[in-house]
Amino acid sequence: MNPFYYGQIVKKADFCRRPELDRKLAGSIKRGQNVYIQGERRTGKTSLICETIRKLKKHRMIYVDLLEVKSSDDFLKRIVTAIIAMEHTAGFVERVFQELSHIRPVASVDPITGLPTLSLDSSVELKPDSIPGVVDLISSYHSKAKPIVVVLDEFQDILNLKDARQTLALLRSRVQFQSGIPYVFAGSIRNEMDRIFNDPDSAFFKSAVPIHVGPIDKDTFQKFIINKFGTEKRHITAESLNTVFAICFNMPGDIQQLCSGLWDTTSHGDNISDEHIPMALK
Ligand SMILES: Nc1ncnc2c1ncn2[C@@H]1O[C@H](COP(=O)(O)OP(=O)(O)O)[C@@H](O)[C@H]1O
Ligand SMILES: [Mg+2]
Repeated sequence: MNPFYYGQIVKKADFCRRPELDRKLAGSIKRGQNVYIQGERRTGKTSLICETIRKLKKHRMIYVDLLEVKSSDDFLKRIVTAIIAMEHTAGFVERVFQELSHIRPVASVDPITGLPTLSLDSSVELKPDSIPGVVDLISSYHSKAKPIVVVLDEFQDILNLKDARQTLALLRSRVQFQSGIPYVFAGSIRNEMDRIFNDPDSAFFKSAVPIHVGPIDKDTFQKFIINKFGTEKRHITAESLNTVFAICFNMPGDIQQLCSGLWDTTSHGDNISDEHIPMALK
């Protein structure tokens, strides 16, 4: 089976270790420190965040993908949906109703698991003034024994909202009081993330510690790739591996995609060299 994955989060054995970044991020999370993670698309931000939190074991993640978020209504519904996805214990339905009755959650029973589930009434449009209630709901799930980490991925897309400034200001004013809960803001577009975190006029100015995600350490990643080819006794020459990395500008997602192409265009036991690359690229 093709052991190369791209265009999705990689986990466990498919995740090439990045100990330095992992330590930095895990340390911040344990201290309850907010961080913002910046790096181009396909460098491995989302995988790093999910893998680091998974290894912390105790922490529970509220993961919100804000890619192409359209409105504050959409923003808030994505957060509430992420909370619902995390929480399935008795009492949570009651709690959501209590705290967010105005946004009209709809309760039902999951036909497969038999557990209560919630969805949101799509006819109710949420405005930024619901942000405090939603953010406070998050803290009601947080405890020392079961700490929460909130991940807001592709966070720069919040700038697309008509009321972006108001949304950011309300979010910031609430988040700063949740001192024990670490927020991880990740984003792919550098100048937009800079506008949020490094512009003195922004509500989030210097409110989080930056972590930059670039290419994976070359030696480590090359060994990782060699091992993957080795699972079916395929061998790639050092020279060709360097060519692959150069073609992909060291971008992890692109390297995995090209290696996946090399896998599909070669066979068990093959010695992979430069001549195989054009076909794989195709
Ligand atoms: N630590 C890693 N080990 C191996 N491959 C990785 C790693 N991080 C990223 N990749 C590759 O990059 C792709 C995109 O990863 P992802 O975490 O979605 O990046 P981002 O969130 O920065 O866009 C993955 O599908 C995988 O091919
Ligand atoms: Mg991502």
